[in-house]
Parts: sequence; C-alpha cells; structure tokens
Amino acid sequence: MKPIVLSGITPSGKLHVGNYLGALHNFVQLQNSGKYNCYFFLSDLHSLTESASPIERADHIIDIATNYLAAGLDPKKSTLFIQSHVPAHAELAWVLNSICPMGELERMTQYKDKSARMETNAGLFTYPALMTADIILYDAEFVPVGDDQDQHLELARTLARKFNSRFGETFIEPKALHTATPRVMSLADPLKKMSKSVPNGCLFLDDEPEVIKKKIMSAVTDSGSEVKFDEASKPGVSNLLMILSAATRHGGQAGKTIPELEKEFAGKNYGQFKAAVAESLIPYLAPIREKKAKLMEDPKKILKAFATGDKKANKVAGAKLKEVYEKVGLI
Ligand code: AMP
Ligand code: TRP
Repeated sequence: MKPIVLSGITPSGKLHVGNYLGALHNFVQLQNSGKYNCYFFLSDLHSLTESASPIERADHIIDIATNYLAAGLDPKKSTLFIQSHVPAHAELAWVLNSICPMGELERMTQYKDKSARMETNAGLFTYPALMTADIILYDAEFVPVGDDQDQHLELARTLARKFNSRFGETFIEPKALHTATPRVMSLADPLKKMSKSVPNGCLFLDDEPEVIKKKIMSAVTDSGSEVKFDEASKPGVSNLLMILSAATRHGGQAGKTIPELEKEFAGKNYGQFKAAVAESLIPYLAPIREKKAKLMEDPKKILKAFATGDKKANKVAGAKLKEVYEKVGLI
C-alpha cells in the first residue's frame, strides 16, 4: 500500500507565492510522483475562526479550489475534498479536544500571534485539535506544509500518541514534509513571513506581470550591494535568491542552486538582480494565472471536481470515526 499524504489550505484570502512554494507546488509534485495516496482538501471549517463575511468566505473557497486545479491537482489522481462536507472532521475534533491538555494549546505560537492581533475565539484556540483530526482520520503519514505548521504537526503527533496509549493503537503519528522554501519572507519586511494577513508584503499567485515586476523591484533589500545568500545580514536578498532558485525549476527539472545564482550575479547590482527575479517569476506563474482565469469562467464545474473526493473522504473518515467511537465507549 502506498503511504498516505494529506494537506489542506484554509480559504481565508488569496494565495501568495509563499503558499505555492511552501505547500501547493509540493502537493502537485507529490501527486505526480505516483508514489503516494494523496488527499488534499480545503480547510473551510478553519476559516470560520476568522471574521470574513459569508460572501467573502464563499468567494475564498472557490478561489482556493480553483487554485488547486490551476496548479495541477487532479481529481483523477488525488482525493480532493472540502472539509465541511465530511462531518467526521468536526466530530473527531471534539473527541480530541477532550483529551488535549489546555497547556498544549496555550503554547501554540500561531494562537499567541493571532490573539495578539485580533479578538480571540474558542475556535482559534482549539484549531490545532481540528487540524489533528483532519490528518489522523486518514492515517496520513506525510503532511506537506510550510514550517509555520510544524508546531501544529507536533501536537498532532502528541494527540495521536495519547489516544493510542489510552484507547489502543488507532492512529499513525504524521510527519511534516517541507520544500526547499519552507518559509518565504515578506517582500515588505524580510524578517517576517509572507502572510495573507499582511497583503502589502505578498506576491499573489494571480498578480499580473506588471504587478509582479513592480512588487519585486520595490522589495525591501539590504544595505550593501553584493548578491549573496546570508539570512542574518541580508535577509531581503536571501529571500529573493530562494524565490529565484525555485522559479528556475520548470516541470520536473532541477532549478539553479543558490551558489550558481550567486556566481551568475557576482558584480551585478540589486536592480539587475531584481529584474532577473521578476523575469523568471513572470513565466513561472503565468500558466497558473491563465489556467485559473479559464476555470473561473465556469465556477460550478470547479466545485464538481471535489464531489467524488467528498464521497471517498466520507467513506474513509466515517469508518475511522466509527472505530474511535467504539474505542472510547460511545455505544
Ligand atoms: P495559510 O496561508 O496559513 O493557510 O497556509 C497554507 C499553506 O501554505 C501551509 O502549508 C503553510 O505552512 C504554507 N505557507 C503559508 N505561508 C508561507 C510562507 N510564507 N512560506 C512558505 N509556506 C507558507
Ligand atoms: N492550518 C493549516 C494552515 O493554516 C491548514 C490546515 C488545516 C492543514 N488542516 C490541515 C494543513 C491538515 C495540513 C493538514 O495553513
């Protein structure tokens, strides 16, 4: 049996290159490798912890679903589904909430960051228990995510272990899978991660070529003039080098390495370097933008692509939940 890969993205805004290079691109690679049994879903229940209006939320769901397909996820190769269409996620989350120590949730840095910025709600606090349910319901072994999710993955392992030791062997402990760019930094502040909640520093997947050019040319770089990878003293240039290295990968081809790029730009200035980053990114992102625009012409068809996956996910997750209910004594 092939190992199971599973991941999701929360529909809470437009996707940016951090989401793509850290997660979505890897979903597609893993799917196309043929080595895994892949599940990819939209974590729409997670989006309820944020304050979008119903119309905005529904738009975000369609937007991310379209991006999945435009990036190359294929319902014939992967199980693509929508979290809220599979009730077992919320049900298992409740069981896990009931064995999860408060202290484990209080430690979560994403919760601490978010609660410092916005009004807190209980869903935001228990979010990692729902995320754990998402993963362990399917016996997923590998979870492709950016490194901001590592702490949540660690909790998923802890909860799986805890359940197993209390109620008998039931769940697999999942592991995170990272790309070479597990943390793309903001173009406006290279000491912070590129994040949907700070649109100013984001390069969005559907930005038009002129916008890409403008954003890259005005990306914050560092003092000095040498194009060298040094995250401590040159975080802006290092971030662009990583983005450029990723953007030179085409199809299954390996891209240019950072040392190769440093050599290529030796003696060139930041302006020339940034122009080259923009020139690589434009054709790298164009096929996704174009495919997305085409898919958007028929939004109903997009959700249809998830219907078969919804059914399959319900079958797999429903069986696991039944086992759980029996093990915990719900008769
Ligand atoms: P989110 O935008 O938080 O819903 O994230 C969706 C996926 O993209 C998750 O796997 C994140 O870890 C990943 N991700 C988000 N921001 C970045 C970033 N700046 N660099 C790399 N991966 C990211
Ligand atoms: N928490 C993830 C994020 O914000 C999204 C997510 C929800 C997820 N459930 C998941 C990712 C399960 C991987 C596996 O990006």
